[in-house]
Amino acid sequence: MKVNLCKKIAAGLLSAAMLCSAATTVSAVNIDTSSVAATATTSSDVIFETGFEDGEGISEFTGRGGVETIEAVTTDSYSGDYSMLVSGKTATWNGPQILLDDRCEAGVEYTAGAYVKTAWYSTVTLSMEYTDTSGTRHYSNLYSVISQGDWVQIPATKFSFTDDVTNVYLYIEGSDTVDLYVDDFVIAAGTVYEIEQDIPSLKDVYSSYFKIGTAVTTSELAPQATKDLIEKHFNSITLGNELKPDALLDQEASIAAGNENPQISLASARTILNYCRDNNISVRGHVLVWHSQTPDWFFKENYDDDGDWVSEEVMLARMENYIKNVFAAIEEEYPTVDFYAWDVVNEAWLDDGSARTGGAQSENSNYSGWVKVFGDNSFIEYAFEYARKYAPEGCKLYYNDYNEYITGKTDAIVEMALDLKEKGLIDGIGMQSHLDARSGSDAYPSVSAYRKALAAFAATGLDIQITELDATIVTNQPTDENFEGQAQYYSDIMDAIVEYSDYISAVVFWGTTDDRSWRATGYPLLFNEDYTAKPCFYSIVDGIEYETDPTEATTEEETTEATTEEETEEETTETTNAPGILYGDANLDGTITISDAVAILSYVSNSGKYPLSDEALDCSDVNQRGDGLSNMDATAVQKYISNTISVLPES
Ligand code: GLA
Repeated sequence: MKVNLCKKIAAGLLSAAMLCSAATTVSAVNIDTSSVAATATTSSDVIFETGFEDGEGISEFTGRGGVETIEAVTTDSYSGDYSMLVSGKTATWNGPQILLDDRCEAGVEYTAGAYVKTAWYSTVTLSMEYTDTSGTRHYSNLYSVISQGDWVQIPATKFSFTDDVTNVYLYIEGSDTVDLYVDDFVIAAGTVYEIEQDIPSLKDVYSSYFKIGTAVTTSELAPQATKDLIEKHFNSITLGNELKPDALLDQEASIAAGNENPQISLASARTILNYCRDNNISVRGHVLVWHSQTPDWFFKENYDDDGDWVSEEVMLARMENYIKNVFAAIEEEYPTVDFYAWDVVNEAWLDDGSARTGGAQSENSNYSGWVKVFGDNSFIEYAFEYARKYAPEGCKLYYNDYNEYITGKTDAIVEMALDLKEKGLIDGIGMQSHLDARSGSDAYPSVSAYRKALAAFAATGLDIQITELDATIVTNQPTDENFEGQAQYYSDIMDAIVEYSDYISAVVFWGTTDDRSWRATGYPLLFNEDYTAKPCFYSIVDGIEYETDPTEATTEEETTEATTEEETEEETTETTNAPGILYGDANLDGTITISDAVAILSYVSNSGKYPLSDEALDCSDVNQRGDGLSNMDATAVQKYISNTISVLPES
């Protein structure tokens, strides 16, 4: 039986937040991990290999361009006497390709590797191609190496594909048309893993608080173990890349449709959206308007890469039609998928609260085409206006960003969000939360800085979603100590998130297993490469609510309720109140809870809109009494709630 301890306790005198916070520490991990055996099984069979000796295997390869000569030669080799020589290339993408459809199975992870050599400095890339059900061909680069007259290795590189695609090829391309040698080409089956079934399910553990999501890309979704992990632990999916402008926009179709009506296709997103539809998993849409992963031609006359920048007027029409077309395509193709949220704008504010520099992505990846056309961040409001106009009812709209615990950025986002809220255009703020646990003690941001950002966003009265959570350890140092530090940090961050759970509707991790993360060298996620749960998984599920034994549940509840009363008593005696004043009680309800911190922050951000009475102001001035209200008073209340200080006011 699963019981909701924290919520039951919330009916008591202290907030659920405090109790969960106290309970969720690494030292208190009480799940018996010894009984949770890793269930991964290994099979690393070679599917295809050739060193091209005496021409062996050469006929399995064809030229992608149809113009290349592909032959087994003895003029050079990495091992043995022979290698493959590719000559006569007329385009960079020409090169040898091998069809996988009858060699490899969908849903299974494989590796491919080889040795390659070019006569002069040149990048050689192992890539993959497949065709989706609508006939669209997709390409992805798997691994690149540089040869400058020497043999270099493309190491065993993971690849996989889903069962709804065909014409799957591996191929080797280059940065120019120089002749290419290939030797010792190997395709092998990767390890097949099974997930741990006898550990708590994250989504169940947090079911009374918020959705628990993960981000996934098409290729990550291929292994069965990833699907099993998602189905056990997550009830929300964010498509890692497949709903971004560069994945949706169709340049040729846009040109054909005229200057103001950009055309899109959901081809790249279908594999994951089909999966969400078939498994009834909700989707966080990510992202409509962003400076990054948006082609420069989108901002140029006639959608021409070398065209002039369009006028603000044309760009507004493009923005509106783009947003309209995205929502229309989803409605048409996926009417049953629950798109419960969309990031409307991503990463528009810099750390100091200013707008980005306007310019082309090809020039500098920090530049924004939107700012180039509009001159400032005024495009944001239009984006929300159009998103509101075309989003289906029930789909909530978010502004999403990183580093939101840096004051300049926090303030800019709060100001923008309050303005958009006033106009009824925004529903929430997304906190990406790409964090650095490092070794634990020197984590960035500090938990208190993170909590402060949560408080500032909660004070806007908007919803918050944690949209891309991951927390790295020190790069390339996967030691037990670092993983313990990471577990403690994750636990503390989740405590803060649970404290604010009344304001938070989803917590999404940016990926599943460490090896597939965009920050893989920092091991930032909850699961190891072999799909086993890491210490940080246990640290965030422990102490929240997951009971299998009803007797145990009752006992724990009783114990905690007793503690609750004791703590409340202590709290009252430890405040140094003037008669009739409960310092910290900003909302004058007779208790000191997180709502008081939120009331103070609301007043500080907009006193006209969120006024406090004289009595409330007096109770709220708990940091350096007499200096008026600031964020510091809210912080003092939070410190008091989390037992960092025992007395209010804080001198
Ligand atoms: C940002 C974006 C995400 C993703 C990550 C890197 O956080 O919002 O979509 O691109 O960077 O993977």
